[in-house]
Amino acid sequence: MFDKTTISAELAEVTEHWTPRVIGRVNDQYVKVAKLLGEFVWHAHDNEDELFWVVSGRLRIQLEGRDEVVLEPGEFFVVPRGMRHNPVADSEVEIVLIETVTTTHTGDVVHEKTVPIERQLPENRRAS
Ligand code: NI
Repeated sequence: MFDKTTISAELAEVTEHWTPRVIGRVNDQYVKVAKLLGEFVWHAHDNEDELFWVVSGRLRIQLEGRDEVVLEPGEFFVVPRGMRHNPVADSEVEIVLIETVTTTHTGDVVHEKTVPIERQLPENRRAS
């Protein structure tokens, strides 16, 4: 069980860009926070939708076959399953993510930016 917390306190624990921190679980979904800077990597999640909710900064989500989505603080967007996407943060962005527990954040792509779920879980939630 996760303790009560705040989004801002959890974001304060994040020290690395593109390294989500799991802050809760709702059924089969993880709630995460992350800090983004620069360009991520094009990828897709064949069977999983992915929610991006901007807390601070301005996030561009490039999407295959359609215009990019630009998210300002308070705005969110769900990338539909199967759609190739690439998040880009021209300056630092803080976000909340909601994604299925089985989702790998780089999707079908294994990349130097891929962070295994074990490293996204807070210390007190990791299996030893
Ligand atoms: Ni994704």
